[in-house]
Amino acid sequence: MHPVLAIKDLHKRYGKVQAVSGLSLEVQPGTVFGILGPNGSGKTTTLGIVLDVVKKDAGTYEWFGKSPSSESRKKIGAILETPVFYPYLSAVENLRVVARIKEVPFTRIEEVLLWVGLAERKMDAFKTFSLGMKQRLAIASALLSDPAVMILDEPTNGLDPQGIAEIRDLIIRIAQEGKTIIMASHLLDEVQKVCTHFAVLKKGKLIYSGGVREALSGTDMVEVASADMDRLQQIAAQFPFVQQVSRENGILKVRLLPEKSSLDLNQFLVEQGVVVSHLSQKTKSLEKQFLEILASSHE
Ligand SMILES: Nc1ncnc2c1ncn2[C@@H]1O[C@H](COP(=O)(O)OP(=O)(O)OP(=O)(O)O)[C@@H](O)[C@H]1O
Ligand SMILES: [Mg+2]
Repeated sequence: MHPVLAIKDLHKRYGKVQAVSGLSLEVQPGTVFGILGPNGSGKTTTLGIVLDVVKKDAGTYEWFGKSPSSESRKKIGAILETPVFYPYLSAVENLRVVARIKEVPFTRIEEVLLWVGLAERKMDAFKTFSLGMKQRLAIASALLSDPAVMILDEPTNGLDPQGIAEIRDLIIRIAQEGKTIIMASHLLDEVQKVCTHFAVLKKGKLIYSGGVREALSGTDMVEVASADMDRLQQIAAQFPFVQQVSRENGILKVRLLPEKSSLDLNQFLVEQGVVVSHLSQKTKSLEKQFLEILASSHE
């Protein structure tokens, strides 16, 4: 199967600022792909380029294994900036305007409003909507043409915790429908909660790309303590599935191979006659991972 999106060696400069620099990445069908990076790292510029609203300097990108065309564009629903709706028109009336432009039957409007949870407010004027409702209407609008791919730029920006949870839940439900989602975010925990894959940009360069689960697995650290720390350290180091052992503040930190857990280590220690007074498994958050990735990429 072709990747949904394949970007190769993309470059974009604004005056002195190299916004995107030799970026290559692929998004596979059915994934929720997060583009992470600090402010100004080129996320919006990249999305703008693949949506044909920003001109690239060099490089290529393909949608569904083909050069971009009006045909491929129809399969993409996007929200780059907060879209402009008519303030005095209702949700339904606003979506009729969009449906006419996209040549989508009006019957679809009720469906998408139900999807985003706005069915009850559909007759209310757009200007009476909360920020979260406006964002959900924007997503409804992008869903009208039943696109195969949804592109979202910072979809939860400015929302309160409940609004954030609603949008995240909505994104997950859209993904469960089989749509591929590409979203820019600078919120690590958002990517951790919503995305299956992610890329990290720094100053327009790709510094990491991979699966969220893979990034989190193999990073498990087990913390162990015992009355005799020296003996604990000596025995733990003999466990065949240990990657690394270090001691910090009276606690032994043991990094295991991905397929082994704290239970396996504990079993080994018991077999060797070591009684532990403390044992806990720490899964590293994506945030920590991310900061390490950023710190270890020089430049
Ligand atoms: N229209 C423009 N004119 C000049 N410079 C621009 C323009 N758009 C973006 N830039 C610059 O390009 C760089 C990348 O910007 P971009 O908006 O793509 O970053 P971003 O990762 O989306 O950031 P944020 O997290 O703040 O949304 C920044 O240095 C920005 O100032
Ligand atoms: Mg941006």
